[in-house]
Amino acid sequence: SAAEKGGYDYFMLKEIAEQPKAVADTLLGRIDPSGSLTLDEVRISPSELREIDKVVIVACGTAFHAGLIAKYAIEHWTRIPCEVELASEFRYRDPILDGRSLVIAISQSGETMDTLMALRHAREQGSKVLAICNTNGSTIPRESDAVLYTHAGPEVAVASTKAFLTQLVACYLVALYLGQVRGTKWGDEIQAVIKDLSRISEEVERVLDTMEPVRALARTLATKSTVLFLGRHVGYPVALEGALKLKELAYMHAEGFAAGELKHGPIALIEEDVPVVVVVPSPRGRSVLHDKIVSNIQEIRARGARTIVIAEEGDEAVVPYADHLIRIPATPTLLQPLVATVPLQVFACELATARGNEVDQPRNLAKSVTVE
Ligand code: AGP
Repeated sequence: SAAEKGGYDYFMLKEIAEQPKAVADTLLGRIDPSGSLTLDEVRISPSELREIDKVVIVACGTAFHAGLIAKYAIEHWTRIPCEVELASEFRYRDPILDGRSLVIAISQSGETMDTLMALRHAREQGSKVLAICNTNGSTIPRESDAVLYTHAGPEVAVASTKAFLTQLVACYLVALYLGQVRGTKWGDEIQAVIKDLSRISEEVERVLDTMEPVRALARTLATKSTVLFLGRHVGYPVALEGALKLKELAYMHAEGFAAGELKHGPIALIEEDVPVVVVVPSPRGRSVLHDKIVSNIQEIRARGARTIVIAEEGDEAVVPYADHLIRIPATPTLLQPLVATVPLQVFACELATARGNEVDQPRNLAKSVTVE
């Protein structure tokens, strides 16, 4: 009913709008006043966590994209090797796991059969399984050794939005906690990022306040047949997520690429007026990465692409090459997906509406996939 949708036309719009609160709620009670993380609810002891020599993340769809981003954070802040695998592929390739592997299963519903089968396989190999889940008491957390709940609240729309942002928050918390427990040379950075995380919900709110031009742009693209998404570093999984949202909702052909792969093939797809969304990393810090993506934007624009550039406020280098510029607040590099994903959700939702599609119930899809 309209009341359930809180005055929004679709659950998806309501859930996109709820993201600042979902992010804040997922942090609530997990950062103590001294700025350290308290994840006592993760009932794997610090001594066990110090023994871990490998992290393996399993998930499907949007949750898999959260896992791809988690890998960057976990490896950077903990120096523990981390693999990310589609849950549906995992157990069929005889993965190398033992008692020192920490397997993280990410699932909004907690009922995804592929993810459940992957975690069962991991436990059979003696690995500890930590679930990151949004649904209290669902099967995946029940069958795991420990669980870190995301507090997104119920997600009704088939296309995942607020659950994704909270999965990212949970992944950062786990990465930072592992770093804190094990002690790494990034101690100071970890402290600073915990502070930035506690402010990030306001930044998400600011992004939501500036989405009207994104909606207007989406409406102009309703008759296109393809949209491409490019990103680097954590912007690459964001590009994959932007493409998945567009497929699910707008039923358009969409593909996400690592920008560095362009010249290895995908650049052949660039033709006159094809919309290409580019997620630009922060110009601060890893500036090499930034410069490289700016030249990628230049290259595709020279070949006629219509460039839709998502870049940090104050990033002037992209301006000459952006046909459309979407600004996001400056954040530490690893946290950027929390703000960069939001315009892509809004974009896909608006395109779906413009194409007359059912936003909350896209064709052929179920909210949770309980068969393999
Ligand atoms: C996302 O928009 C999807 N509809 C889908 O990819 C989903 O993320 C995937 O099926 C995993 O679901 P889960 O998080 O409930 O396990």
